[in-house]
Amino acid sequence: MKKIILFIFALVAFQGFAQTTKLSSKIEQQAKELEPKIIEWRRYFHEHPELSNREVKTGAKIAEHLKSLGLEVQYPVAKTGVVALLKGAKPGPVVALRADIDALPVTERNSLPFASKEKVNFGGQETGVMHACGHDTHISMLLAVAEILTKNKAELKGTIKFIFQPAEEGVSPAEAPAGAELMIKEGVLENPKVEAIFGLHIQSLLPSGQLAYRSGGLMAAVDGVDINVKGKGAHGATPWDSVDPIVVSSQIIQGLQTIVSRQTELSKAGAVITIGSIHGGIRRNIIPETAMLEGTIRTFDNDMQKKVHEKIKLTAEKIAESAGAKAEVNILVMYPATVNDAALTVKMVPSLVRAAGKENVVITQPVTMAEDFSFYQRKVPGFFFFLGAYPAEMNLKSQPTHHTADFMIDEKAMITGVKALANLTIDYMEMFKK
Ligand code: NI
Repeated sequence: MKKIILFIFALVAFQGFAQTTKLSSKIEQQAKELEPKIIEWRRYFHEHPELSNREVKTGAKIAEHLKSLGLEVQYPVAKTGVVALLKGAKPGPVVALRADIDALPVTERNSLPFASKEKVNFGGQETGVMHACGHDTHISMLLAVAEILTKNKAELKGTIKFIFQPAEEGVSPAEAPAGAELMIKEGVLENPKVEAIFGLHIQSLLPSGQLAYRSGGLMAAVDGVDINVKGKGAHGATPWDSVDPIVVSSQIIQGLQTIVSRQTELSKAGAVITIGSIHGGIRRNIIPETAMLEGTIRTFDNDMQKKVHEKIKLTAEKIAESAGAKAEVNILVMYPATVNDAALTVKMVPSLVRAAGKENVVITQPVTMAEDFSFYQRKVPGFFFFLGAYPAEMNLKSQPTHHTADFMIDEKAMITGVKALANLTIDYMEMFKK
């Protein structure tokens, strides 16, 4: 009897697997057919980039397409975001797929026919706007996944929530919370309750069509630090009359560098402290009263993050105190680390292999950039990975990085991203069907 039950169970599992394989081949074919349209969308969004929380035309265009597919669309969500629901014909889990949609204050230098000519005033400065992080490709890929999965609605075992999220690149403190954090606050993971979330980022420094993933900490947590050093002003010729905040600041910067190099267990996970701005003084012979330091902190581990924050505070305060000055330290908690759920990662790697081929799926090192996809992962199991897109004809050494005026990707990589997201979805549904 036991054997028979086992046999029936294996047969049912096999049938499910065979159906998924069939659906996957169909998706592969449909993605190929849709490729010209994916490229056309990408070029439209590339030519019309909008800054974080200003993605008005972008959001409207996304919503319009999703409505034309007959999906239940919510717009705007979290200022300019779009959420669409696709209900499969069969019962199953709720899977969310997320794309970020914002651009950056960068003036494009590429001579593409669809290069951005947009200009805006950003913080009082005239600047160009550019999809210099490739979020234009994220939008286009997710639109394609929505279109393809809608076509296969009859075979889908569950529900898909498409999340087009604004403001991933961050906003001024006055506008916070924004992006993923605000979307969650507005209930994007509820009604129906999301059980798993998938997302990707295009990567200009990985070969086109390669998928790179990592279990656990993939991208760093980012936090800011402001240090206000208060001393005592004096004539530059009589420093003994002062408590020099410039000298104290330089000691603090040196001291902070020993936190990572000497007090952090680097074999466990990496960390970075960078002081990127120093402001103090007005003239060479006046010792000012105060100096202001601003920095960024990157960590991958929650405990380490807490310790680094504490040590920054202690180091700055005590160095200032030893000189008779005062350091006011303000830590700005920004994005948590992007941590891939280990159990989910193991289950989902075969979907990446099916989408890109075994030779194109690699394990990546953690990267010290941050991503607000992490907010979703703190609520539900999530899996985030990179899609390589450096054009084969370019030299990797001279390939421009993200957030620069020459940033460039290979549009042909997008089809692999579409297949990856679609395969992750149908495989997850098969694994957790109800
Ligand atoms: Ni980005």
